[in-house]
Amino acid sequence: MQFDTPLTIALSKGRIYKQTMPLLKHAGIEPLDDPETSRKLILDTNHEQVKLVIIRATDVPTYVQWGAADVGVAGKDVLLEHGGEGLYEPLDLEIARCRLMVAGRYGASLEGDPLRIATKYVHSARDYFAARGQQVDIIKLYGSMELAPLVGLSDLIVDLVESGNTLKANGLEPLEHIADISSRLVINKAAWKMKHNTIMQLTDLLKQAVEQNR
Ligand code: PRP
Repeated sequence: MQFDTPLTIALSKGRIYKQTMPLLKHAGIEPLDDPETSRKLILDTNHEQVKLVIIRATDVPTYVQWGAADVGVAGKDVLLEHGGEGLYEPLDLEIARCRLMVAGRYGASLEGDPLRIATKYVHSARDYFAARGQQVDIIKLYGSMELAPLVGLSDLIVDLVESGNTLKANGLEPLEHIADISSRLVINKAAWKMKHNTIMQLTDLLKQAVEQNR
């Protein structure tokens, strides 16, 4: 694919980066540096016009919303928290799949008034329990949520579950499914208009790559 306009793509390090690379390669985009070994935050690619910016997963929607990146790859968990303002979300990349779940100690109850819920996913947790008509106190944490019920900080947690091994290793079990999670292509609304042909082509090629991966 030819790029007749500059394009900035926001990605986070780790699983999303690794799983996005083959999709970008299908679209003809290959970085010249590896973010795992380089300290650079802006990576050049084989196209002079195309740059990758490497940021924290939770910051990807913010960079794209404000147009600091034209497109990005963000987990649905992060998008649910962000709210999606200023973004289009045209494609499920079907990578980094997991589930957002309520979990607790073995046999823990979802009853209780108010329940204390520890989570990084404050909005998703609040919406989920509000839909059940249940009063909860949400305790915002930034990681290691599994610890909270073990030390009496919370009754339950809302967290991502992939294999379930982290829960198991800490004597916890999944209790309720909130949402299936995977990474999505997100696009700045203004860039979608201004760079329409380039972004449409990129989206189509990524879509092909996703279909080939099935
Ligand atoms: C996620 C999540 C769980 C773990 C679940 O954490 O928060 O702790 O993975 O995976 P499992 O079901 O396969 O054990 P991650 O490693 O992404 O780090 P984080 O705590 O920074 O979110």
